[in-house]
Amino acid sequence: MTDFIALPFYDLLHENAHVPEIRRTLPPLLAGVRRSVLEIGAGTGLITTSLADWTPAEIFALEPSAGMRGVLLSRLTARPELLERVTVLPCDALGLDLAEPVEAMVMINVMYALEPDYRARLWPVLAAHLEPGGLLVFTWRAGGPPAPGPMRELDSRRVGRHTYAVLSEIIESDGKEACKARYLYRITEGDRVVEEEEIVGHAYRPSREVIEKELTGAGFTPADAPEGLLAWRLP
Ligand SMILES: C[S@@+](CC[C@H](N)C(=O)[O-])C[C@H]1O[C@@H](n2cnc3c(N)ncnc32)[C@H](O)[C@@H]1O
Repeated sequence: MTDFIALPFYDLLHENAHVPEIRRTLPPLLAGVRRSVLEIGAGTGLITTSLADWTPAEIFALEPSAGMRGVLLSRLTARPELLERVTVLPCDALGLDLAEPVEAMVMINVMYALEPDYRARLWPVLAAHLEPGGLLVFTWRAGGPPAPGPMRELDSRRVGRHTYAVLSEIIESDGKEACKARYLYRITEGDRVVEEEEIVGHAYRPSREVIEKELTGAGFTPADAPEGLLAWRLP
């Protein structure tokens, strides 16, 4: 399991990336959810607090990385009323163990980190923890894995005298769903590199056909969802 995330960069670079779009497209899908939501790969909680704002439901925020969980818990501490309603689960998705099934499950920008075998084992686990009629929503991008390409800067933010930049290159691609990528997380002051972290690993972008086969095999049926999201229900 590779995670291409350098923790100190996460909120800086993501708050303005996928998050505004998700905050626009996800709430209509969750209208009517009242009792419980599981968020898989909650990260630093950028979506978690929004889930709590959109629904009155109890929230289970599952996040395997202790560093990400630390930021998530800081975010919850800044909203003390949410500490009553959000349970942070310190495990990966296959370690899910809930006392009762939930009404809805949300997985935002996590699929890329799931190896195909892991992903195929995950859907039955999620089905076993979802209420009949329950909703599963996750982000999905068409087009398969990106082709190999040179290192380029994806984004940067200024923090005082420093610039935080993320660069990435695609080293290889299997043309089906996997690619190998290299990320550089670089902090600079002028021309001087203050700190740099390199992360190399695999990412996955399965086709819609593959996802549909896996999910229907686990008992899910497709539901309507806006561009960028896929939604499924248990009959
Ligand atoms: C790009 S972040 C997305 C975080 C959050 N959903 C958001 O949209 O801001 C991906 C998250 O998935 C988590 N993750 C990776 N593999 C996972 C797994 N097998 N089970 C659960 N979470 C996982 C990572 O630890 C990371 O926090």
